[in-house]
Amino acid sequence: MPAILVLHGPNLNLLGSREPEVYGSLTLKEINERLAVAGVELGLEIRSFQSNSEGALIDALHQARNWADGVLFNPGGYTHTSVALRDAVAAIGLPVIEVHLSNVYAREEFRHQSLISPVCSGKIVGFGWRSYWLGLQAMVHLLSE
Ligand code: DQA
Repeated sequence: MPAILVLHGPNLNLLGSREPEVYGSLTLKEINERLAVAGVELGLEIRSFQSNSEGALIDALHQARNWADGVLFNPGGYTHTSVALRDAVAAIGLPVIEVHLSNVYAREEFRHQSLISPVCSGKIVGFGWRSYWLGLQAMVHLLSE
């Protein structure tokens, strides 16, 4: 069974109460539970991890080399700033799909740039928690190719 790391970056631990008009009202726990259900339906083993720390996210990406077949990654605000996370994504040699709850292109201009996108297999933005759900579907297709 393919194993997928669902990796959530900074401030996503506050989902549910953080700007719900932008990010929706589900908590991170509720999103992870829905993804676990989707994983069962899709025949994927899902492991979720969230950190506010760039280093911990890098470590999780490195460790994924030992057990995961692919990564769904919402790098949060680090999307727009982190060379180190981009390098980690490029280094691990796993398919990584970038995911954002909000439509970053309809927001402030600084959110239009992603340092991560060029080293990802693809990217899904703007569908709330379903961006992750769509990312899982995309991953299934990617892994079956
Ligand atoms: C986000 C978009 C980022 O610009 C922002 O910094 C976040 C969340 C999203 O999922 O829409 O923290 O990654």
